[in-house]
Amino acid sequence: MENMKFERTILITGGAGFIGSHVVRLFVNKYPCCRIVNLDKLTYAGNLANLKDVENSPNYRFIKADICDFDTVCALMREMKVDGVIHLAAESHVDRSIRDPFTFARTNVLGTLSLLQAARQYWESLPERFEGKMFYHISTDEVYGALEFDGSLFTEDTKYDPHSPYSASKASSDHFVRAFHDTYGMPVIVTNCSNNYGPYQFPEKLIPLFINNIVHRRPLPVYGKGENVRDWLFVEDHARAIDLIFHRGKAAQTYNIGGFNEWKNIDLVRLLIRTTDSLLGRPEGADDDLVTFVTDRAGHDLRYAIDSTKLSSELGWRPSLQFEEGMEKTVKWYLDNAAWLDNVTSGDYMKYYEEMYEGR
Ligand code: NAD
Ligand code: DAU
Repeated sequence: MENMKFERTILITGGAGFIGSHVVRLFVNKYPCCRIVNLDKLTYAGNLANLKDVENSPNYRFIKADICDFDTVCALMREMKVDGVIHLAAESHVDRSIRDPFTFARTNVLGTLSLLQAARQYWESLPERFEGKMFYHISTDEVYGALEFDGSLFTEDTKYDPHSPYSASKASSDHFVRAFHDTYGMPVIVTNCSNNYGPYQFPEKLIPLFINNIVHRRPLPVYGKGENVRDWLFVEDHARAIDLIFHRGKAAQTYNIGGFNEWKNIDLVRLLIRTTDSLLGRPEGADDDLVTFVTDRAGHDLRYAIDSTKLSSELGWRPSLQFEEGMEKTVKWYLDNAAWLDNVTSGDYMKYYEEMYEGR
């Protein structure tokens, strides 16, 4: 690969994680003329098995590094001649942020700043400076806070109002990204996306956690009364949106990405049980009693819902799947990939699980 000539080099951070692995796969396969460099620290959430099918592609390169390691990131920018950054690396689980906010501030805030500064210094050293360059930051709808049950939606103009240490750290990183545009003229894009689901998601998040628990007939810990609402998007639709926006989005813009697909947690959980039981050949209703209402998450946002009209009207993006179809595809993937699930739930996983849910 070192001797090959590539038209561009795109650095994707967090590419061994859930969404990142779908983005890396899409870019490696779709853009053979581009070198795709995946920088990932391989925390508990990062897993190179997510990228087995592309690991030997001539245009793919993996670098194990921490985005907070400024010198390493600077050297990488120069050595790889990075033209574009798609930044997904983050601590991403709200419950973990409640227990350990410092790690979230370090990775999500300082890590993003380290990448921004490294990209700026490298690009400013080139004759063309920012021409043809892009720093694309992947953020979340959680920065907007919580909605009531009143049909309102988050738009790109909704005021930031984060409630968890996770969303506060993401909000802070979004502000740094925009500040680098306003202060230094760096071309940046921020997107704020709703809840993703699909293959390769670490089983700490609702859907893969509950699929795994149904398989093993463990209780399904529904927070509070299960009335909170999330807007679910199939992960490959998010990856497609990222591709479109990275190539055709306008610098200094924000785009919301969402599925117009709101589900109350308890209704989603009932659908998940039905789908999983049916694929496992268990009789209808066999696992209904696994539902266990537990103490609510602290500061639990009531409702998220995204208005992605700007993205669809300006760039023509639309979600491709109906939720029931996406859910069936997802459950089937986890059942067909039991070895993947067993692997990521070995090691410290059960310790994490017991600590997180014990006495709840
Ligand atoms: P994830 O937790 O599955 O993966 C995160 C990846 O980042 C892992 O591979 C991990 O090893 C890596 N990483 C963590 N700290 C790092 C560090 N210091 N240096 C380098 N790599 C590091 O996360 P995800 O769910 O795929 O989310 C990806 C991005 O998308 C995050 O920025 C998240 O805030 C955002 N997002 C997620 C969702 C969602 O529903 N999952 C929705 C909207 C936005
Ligand atoms: O909205 C985008 C965000 O979606 C992303 O930015 C985050 O990275 C991602 O983790 C996700 O955050 P949520 O907190 O919404 O996802 P989670 O899967 O943790 O929870 C979904 C809903 O289910 C939420 O209302 C809490 C509830 N829940 C979750 C777990 C893990 C339960 O009731 N029980 C559980 O055990």
